[in-house]
Amino acid sequence: MRAGRWARREFVERAVRLGAGAAMATVLPLAAAGRAYGSKPHRDAATSADGKTESVTGDSSLGAAAAAHGLLYGCAVNMNALGADAAYAALVREQCRILVAENAMKWGALRPSAEGFNFDQADAMVAFAEANRMKIRGHNLAWHQNNPKWLEVTATKENARELLVTHIETVAGRYAGRMHSWDVVNEAIRVEDGRADGLRDSMWLRLVGEEYIELAFKTAREADPQALLTYNDYGIEAETRVGEQKREAVIEMLRRMVARHVPVDAVGVQSHIAAAVSAGNKSAASQYGAGLMRFIGAVRELGLQVFVTEMDVNDRALAADEVGRDAAVAAAYRQYLELVLGDPAVKAVLTWGITDRYTWLGHEEGRADGKLERPLPFDAAGKAKAAFFAVREVFDQRGTAVSHG
Ligand code: XIL
Repeated sequence: MRAGRWARREFVERAVRLGAGAAMATVLPLAAAGRAYGSKPHRDAATSADGKTESVTGDSSLGAAAAAHGLLYGCAVNMNALGADAAYAALVREQCRILVAENAMKWGALRPSAEGFNFDQADAMVAFAEANRMKIRGHNLAWHQNNPKWLEVTATKENARELLVTHIETVAGRYAGRMHSWDVVNEAIRVEDGRADGLRDSMWLRLVGEEYIELAFKTAREADPQALLTYNDYGIEAETRVGEQKREAVIEMLRRMVARHVPVDAVGVQSHIAAAVSAGNKSAASQYGAGLMRFIGAVRELGLQVFVTEMDVNDRALAADEVGRDAAVAAAYRQYLELVLGDPAVKAVLTWGITDRYTWLGHEEGRADGKLERPLPFDAAGKAKAAFFAVREVFDQRGTAVSHG
C-alpha cells in the first residue's frame, strides 16, 4: 500500500500548505507539530554545507550573528501557529531579535467591525516579543489589501480621512513607545496603474486623495513619536524595466515627502525574491544588482534607514530535487544579502516566516508540481537548511561591528 501512504502524505502536505498561508490559518494540532520537530533529537545543531555539525542556537543563532555586526535579524510570526505549536515558538525565540506580525496588526485582523477593535492577537504578539526582549515592527496602517468588507462598503470621500486617522491614532497609540518601527503605508506605488506619480489606484487614494500618505505618516508620528516610520514596498528589487520604474517612482515620492517634512524615517524593501526566474536559470546573480544599490544609496542620501522587511526566496522555477532547491535558495540569500548589506543604511533583515512549515508561499501561485516550497532558513521540521548557513555567513562577514540600541 505504498501508493496509499504517499497519497496521504501528499494530502497532509497540502493541508499544511493551504492552512499555513491563510490569514486565519488553522494549524496542525500540537501533537502533529510536536512529532515533526520531536523527531529531531538535536535541534540545536545542524549539518552545514561542508558537512560539519554546527550549533545554530545561542551565540550561533541568526539573531546573535546579526547583532554582533550591528544588525537586527527577525521574522514575521504566524500568531495561530505561535499559540499552538510550542516548537515553533521556541524556534522564533531562539533565532529572532525583532518580530513583526504576519497578519495580526493588519486592518483585517484588528477591525472586525466599524466600531470595534480586536487586539487579542496583536497584544499576544507584543507580549511574546517583550517577554523575550525582542524589538517589534508594526505592519501595517494603510494598505490596499486586507481591508475589511465593512470598510470597503462604508468608506466614502466624506468619512475616509476620519476612518484612517482614528485607526492610526488607536493602533499606533496603543503600542506607543514600544515599537521599533511601523510600516505606516504599504505598497502605495504601482506604475502599471498609469499615473504620472506612480501612485497605486487604491481605496485610500480614491477616497482621500494623494495626501493620504502624508496624513498617515503625520498621524502615526503624533500617536507614537518613537517608532521609526517606514514606507514599505515590493517589486523594487529586480533589475527589470518595471523594477527600475518602480524604484524611480518610490524615490520621487520619498523626495517629495522629505521636502514637505513628512515624518518618514525608513524604507522597507520587502525582498520576496526568486531563486530563479525560469526553469534552467539557476542563479539569482543577474536578477539583483546595481539598480537596487542605486536605490538604497538614494534612500540613504535622503537620511533614511533601510530595512529588508519580508525576505523569502521562492523556488518555483527549480526542479523538484530538494538538495538542489536548497542550494539554489541558499545561493540567492547569499547573493542578495551580500549585495544589500554592502550599504550601511541597511539596519535590519527580517524573513517572512522562519520555517518552511508556515510559509505563505504556495497558497496563491505555488509550484506546478504541488510540492511545498522551501523558501526559509529552517525546513518544515525545524532543521537549519543551507539557507540558514548562507545568511549567517553573510551576517558574520558584515564590515565593522557597531552597537545598536
Ligand atoms: C501576506 C501573509 O503572509 C499571508 O498570510 C496573507 O494571507 C496575505 O498577506 N506583502 C506584505 C505582507 O506586505 O503583508 C503579505 O503578507 C505578503 C506580501
